Amino acid sequence: MSAAPKRIHLSDYAPPEWLIDNVALTFDLHPQHTEVSARLQVRRNPACMKEGGNALPPLRLDGEALELVDVRIGEEERPLDARAHVVRDDALIITRPPAERFTLHTRVRINPAANTQLSGLYMSNGIYCTQCEAEGFRRITYWPDRPDVLSRFTVRIQADEKEVPVLLSNGNPVESGRMDDGRHYAVWQDPYPKPSYLFALVAGRLEALKDTFTTADGRTVDLAIWVEPGKAARARFALESLKKAMRWDEERFGRVYDLDVFNIVAVPDFNMGAMENKGLNIFNDRYILADENTATDRDYENIEAIIAHEYFHNWTGNRITCRDWFQLCLKEGLTVFRDQEFTSDVRSRAVKRIEDVRLLRSLQFPEDAGPLAHPVRPSSFGAIDNLYTVTVYEKGAEIVRMMHTLLGEAAFRKGMDVYFERFDGQAVTVEDFIAALSEGGGRDLSAFMRWYEQAGTPHVTMRRSHDDEGRLTLHLVQNNPKAQEAKPEKALPQPIPLRLALFDKEGKRLPLRPVGEGARHVTGAAGDILLLDSTALEITFDDVPRDAVVSLNRGFSAPIRLESDLDRDTLLFLLKHDDDAFNRWEAGQTLAVSAILDHLRGKTDDALSLIDAMAEALLPDLPRLANADPAFLAEIMKFPGVQDLAVHVGRDVDPEALHLSREAVMAHFARRLGESLPELFSQLAVTEPYAPTPEQCGRRAAQAVMLALFVQADAARGAALAMEVFRTARNMTETALALDALNLTQTPQRDEALAEFRERFGHEPLLLDKWLAWHARWTGEGCAARLWALTEDEAFTWRNPNRVRSLFGVFGMANPVRFHAADGSGYALLARAVRKVDALNPQTAARLAQAFGNWRVMEPQRRKKAEETLKGLAEDDALSADVRDIVERALSG
Ligand code: TRP
Ligand code: ZN
Repeated sequence: MSAAPKRIHLSDYAPPEWLIDNVALTFDLHPQHTEVSARLQVRRNPACMKEGGNALPPLRLDGEALELVDVRIGEEERPLDARAHVVRDDALIITRPPAERFTLHTRVRINPAANTQLSGLYMSNGIYCTQCEAEGFRRITYWPDRPDVLSRFTVRIQADEKEVPVLLSNGNPVESGRMDDGRHYAVWQDPYPKPSYLFALVAGRLEALKDTFTTADGRTVDLAIWVEPGKAARARFALESLKKAMRWDEERFGRVYDLDVFNIVAVPDFNMGAMENKGLNIFNDRYILADENTATDRDYENIEAIIAHEYFHNWTGNRITCRDWFQLCLKEGLTVFRDQEFTSDVRSRAVKRIEDVRLLRSLQFPEDAGPLAHPVRPSSFGAIDNLYTVTVYEKGAEIVRMMHTLLGEAAFRKGMDVYFERFDGQAVTVEDFIAALSEGGGRDLSAFMRWYEQAGTPHVTMRRSHDDEGRLTLHLVQNNPKAQEAKPEKALPQPIPLRLALFDKEGKRLPLRPVGEGARHVTGAAGDILLLDSTALEITFDDVPRDAVVSLNRGFSAPIRLESDLDRDTLLFLLKHDDDAFNRWEAGQTLAVSAILDHLRGKTDDALSLIDAMAEALLPDLPRLANADPAFLAEIMKFPGVQDLAVHVGRDVDPEALHLSREAVMAHFARRLGESLPELFSQLAVTEPYAPTPEQCGRRAAQAVMLALFVQADAARGAALAMEVFRTARNMTETALALDALNLTQTPQRDEALAEFRERFGHEPLLLDKWLAWHARWTGEGCAARLWALTEDEAFTWRNPNRVRSLFGVFGMANPVRFHAADGSGYALLARAVRKVDALNPQTAARLAQAFGNWRVMEPQRRKKAEETLKGLAEDDALSADVRDIVERALSG
């Protein structure tokens, strides 16, 4: 356990010596001793056969926590000679394979009930279920557990008929029946060869919500969402979302579903959000179960997006999979891009973009600037489970988005068609993807490999100059400090597509007339993209009046930090007039950041006068926005968070001081808006019956912002109003928005509402999670002590990742004030939780530990406390490889 994890390098990749064309698995289910028999049809990989060479290499099968009962060989199932194989802790090695093709039979025993890691076959509240990505299949049977070994699976499941009535696996059901002793069985066959990480099995007492879907090519697919008995009605929205996602993938990407059935199962104990197993997605039940009394609008939006994400993996991930785990972004970045596009199409594109950029800035930019920074496609890793990061997922999606921006929708779609056509049924690399997009899209995109291979957020500066002939020149420079720091000689300029518009001072668009050398860098389907693909670039435009306004990186066309010479009045102009909603919001964020940082540095007057100007610019438009686009209104009224601000400060960060300046600035803003806050709150009220439609969600999101600001402007009146909202709430969204606002305070109403919430909703696990999370987000003094006390609560259990994350995940990721408390109490609390969870579930513990990824930017006292805490963890011999990998990288980077 304590040994430093061995690093795996991309450059060491070698294709598998042996392939397995077909496998038949039989599961004899029992909570403590399940028996798994496997029949493998093994074949030499022709790609590895040297000419003339006839010595057969050993066949190495991974295994972990398996008890080998029996191993046999050949059709006739001869016992395997003791000299022909070796059994190790982590492998079964057939040292002398009999031939280039042979059949291998193994029988192992495993203990699902004792599996607290939730990787492999485990029990969740009495339900048998599996999680195999990335390397969980080796905890089920001996297998070459790598994504480039694709096999056809036939699975037979046997279990007690009464205890375990439902038996599910991948693919199509082919047979079922009764056995003796009260047991029954089912056989599933998946016609599509797949890697082991996509294997799944679920068995137990489950209830289904069913429907059908008719594909574009006229086939009927049986859909079912399986949940714990009594909860089927709460899967309705998930099922509707699934049908929407299936239709959308046909229309936008031409991708049609390919099996007779599509099953989804919701389980309460799950390490991540959900898993895309072929034909049998498994979900954390918090991303399935919803009704108006238990789920918020945000929960509904997450369900819709995650259902879509997992469904989209059927093509981007399953039909075309990854050659090795370094290529993880090949499926994840692309699939996140696809789910973002889905949400943009069915909800608001601008708001979705704003939300994604907010996530990028609050989590991915800090990760990319700190010791845990890594390229989207890393060249080495210590622990595979720690590769599922915001960088791989979200920055990975940004890279796909940049290529989409450059090609335009039509050419991008042609590129994707080439990708699907060429690589269907294969395990491929990022290079393969870029080659297909380039070929189909008609543009060489190979320079984008630099985005995959270099860590760090590029900084771009933009300066303007005018000449006397009415020409405007933009001077652009890029620099990636993290890449420089890593390998100065190898840091290369990255291709950065910057969407541009020019406005005259009335806010009318000016045509773009690029001239001279730089003109060839103006590109894109609409001719409005500046492609900054060298360190520095100058681009000149004709016929631009001196007072014209520049709007750059529109829609956040590149995931960079942009620093421009736009002054305060220009930004205020953009805040009012930009016709790109994203950049309108962005201008507000830039102004808010500079106001908060001014305040932090003691320039209080500057800060407050800037806020006055912002309030003045926004006020006249608020009632209109409240009617026309409340979701956007909510966004434009939200201030950047402490983590985002910390990235701007860069070093010697004092999160508490930042938080106080942020609060002061927000309070000033709120007071400037004055009575319009409660007025807007009423104006936004939803009177129709609850529905999680974009319109209603938008209104309630804007209400939440108004209420929070009102609480900040006037704690007494604000808390009273929030309490009234809490008492009269008609659905969970209203209840939660009232509590969100109260939780910003240290008022008696906060405690009262929390106690009442617990009383009324504490029996429902997903609502208990919300209750725990409010405690974890609270910036009050007693936060850390209270969190530890809550672990003694009868409803809390260290074994359920949702409970653990609601307390400690939220604390580490969303409460910078208390996590980075100057006395080190937050660090100590999190380290204690990490140790406790690590003994049960290393994957989940390592995720919690990632909160330590930004300690180096803190001011010296906090830095010292964080370092001491990390060193204390590193000295712990009992640490898992997953947590050790995080701790050691956090200390060394
Ligand atoms: N492939 C899953 C997704 O993004 C992620 C996932 C689910 C996962 N469970 C996991 C990754 C366990 C690592 C370990 O959709
Ligand atoms: Zn995914």
